[in-house]
Amino acid sequence: MDHATVVVSGTKIADEIGTGRSEVWRLIQQLRSLGVDVAGHPATGYQLRAVPDLLLADVLAPLIKGTIFQHIHHYYKVGSTNSAAMEAAASGAPEGSVFLAEEQTAGRGRGANAWHSARSAGIYCSVVLRPNLPPSEALILSLAAGLAVHAAIQEIDARINPDLKWPNDLLVGGKKFCGILTEMNAEATRVRFVVVGIGINVNDPRFPEDLRDVATSLQLASGSEWSRVELAAALLKSLHREYRHLLIKPNARESILHRFAEHSSYVCGCKVRIEENGGFEAVTEGLDARGFLQVRTPQGLRTVLSGTVRAM
Ligand code: BTN
Repeated sequence: MDHATVVVSGTKIADEIGTGRSEVWRLIQQLRSLGVDVAGHPATGYQLRAVPDLLLADVLAPLIKGTIFQHIHHYYKVGSTNSAAMEAAASGAPEGSVFLAEEQTAGRGRGANAWHSARSAGIYCSVVLRPNLPPSEALILSLAAGLAVHAAIQEIDARINPDLKWPNDLLVGGKKFCGILTEMNAEATRVRFVVVGIGINVNDPRFPEDLRDVATSLQLASGSEWSRVELAAALLKSLHREYRHLLIKPNARESILHRFAEHSSYVCGCKVRIEENGGFEAVTEGLDARGFLQVRTPQGLRTVLSGTVRAM
């Protein structure tokens, strides 16, 4: 946005990038379709009026210096950032590789669910981690990611205090605005890599009919637009902090479990229905040492391993 008010002729731009004026016109049209506000036409020259809040690597990198997230991949459109990250990690992408998209055409949620991924409205972000953990311990990463989202949001707008719903949803006003999909590639005793995929509804002004009662966005919750760049940077910084602590601090795991429960109305004393093994009702009784939800049923204490939890 340097010199945003300057009008530059098509010929000058063409000379600078070594092409012709018609190609410049084509590129300007392409930028406009991506939300860049460029005034003018070939006869008058062009003027850059506003660049959208794109999650470009060049924009994010200086904001997250010193974190493990040094390899940033940005897509205007991709099937799923989790799929892109899983494929890249299987081909050797280093720990800390980040995959961000403006739009996902096949965004995935837990189970067979899809993730609504409208263009440039949300943050669709997947990171590659290579922790030295057995697969049975990997759930803690998902809980840590939920805390990282919580911290990032509070850092930007302390009025928004999200409720963490085990294992990986964040809600405001009882509606979901963030989901986390943690996938891994592992041997029986050793994780090869983990991909933590985070979807945040940031500036969605509305949702499709079928989601309206259950989904919200930060803009709808706060009444104003958010900078996706600022939020993505805050998120990656707090994710970095949580992950480093987990690797080096002896009590990090307990701290994650404790803080998760602190920011969740679901973890203790909540009457729930668990959609697992045909479904059953129970009252939540905290998290076990690996982060699994414990619930009290008339038959005794049970550990929830994977089912969806619904408050009743
Ligand atoms: C859920 O709530 O079930 C989890 C949703 C996770 C969505 C994110 S968006 C970025 C990443 N890419 C995907 O395809 N899914 C995750």
